[in-house]
Amino acid sequence: TGRRRTAPDILARKGGEPIVSLTCYNAAFAPFVDPLVDFILVGDSLAMVEHGMDSTLGVSLDLMIAHGKAVVRSTSQALIVVDMPFGSYEASKEEAFRAAARLMAETGCGAVKLEGGAPMAETIAFLAARGIPVMAHIGLTPQAVNALGGFKSQGHDAVARDKILGDAIAVAEAGAFAVVVEGVVAPLGDEITAKIAIPTIGIGASAGCDGQVLVINDMLGLTDRVPRFVKRFGNVGQAVTDAVSAYADDVRARRFPGQEHTYKPRG
Ligand code: KIV
Ligand code: NA
Repeated sequence: TGRRRTAPDILARKGGEPIVSLTCYNAAFAPFVDPLVDFILVGDSLAMVEHGMDSTLGVSLDLMIAHGKAVVRSTSQALIVVDMPFGSYEASKEEAFRAAARLMAETGCGAVKLEGGAPMAETIAFLAARGIPVMAHIGLTPQAVNALGGFKSQGHDAVARDKILGDAIAVAEAGAFAVVVEGVVAPLGDEITAKIAIPTIGIGASAGCDGQVLVINDMLGLTDRVPRFVKRFGNVGQAVTDAVSAYADDVRARRFPGQEHTYKPRG
């Protein structure tokens, strides 16, 4: 109820009641999620869970815009954050601005997210100074899967932990309004949260983060292989199987459609 949440609303939640977030990609699920979360992320994880790709690298700006529009249209309360896809923002801050401006203008979303820490700080500051709220994303950054050597948890030695902490400080100082911290050892999630002034949104980080996010298909039980950090809160996959098999049985037995599903002539 009331007006839609904004990036400053999320920033103001630092250190307070945990921020609740899920990904969502379409108009079928978004209305169910909208009243229950603080922000919805239209993540580029849609590559895998909605389009059957094996990484997020093949996602285009046009695809993110199409999904972002669907989610904005079908919600009214949650802040909508749309991921900037691989290749749309890394080359220069000017290119990043053009891509982010398209995302915001064409979808009506309230913020964008991009991956990368210290190397992206200048870009984050450039966008933030020009009216684009930016959520950063550090630790296990899936667009860097080839450089990281796989989808692996991060921060297992002191050098790696220092680098990730430096990334967190850099994006916070650059003006990001929040930062996703993905797939890092739990004490590092806690340390980052204590040391920066913007909310940390954990996914496979720690319960001490200022908020949490999960891929909705994973937490609903719609995906078969999930990382350690996913808890299944439902079994929607089983519900789909049950409904489709009941339908198939009814069609084969001519129990469906019943009289109540068919039209009688009026005259
Ligand atoms: O694309 C995505 O779903 C994400 C979240 C997992 C943070 O970036
Ligand atoms: Na993403």
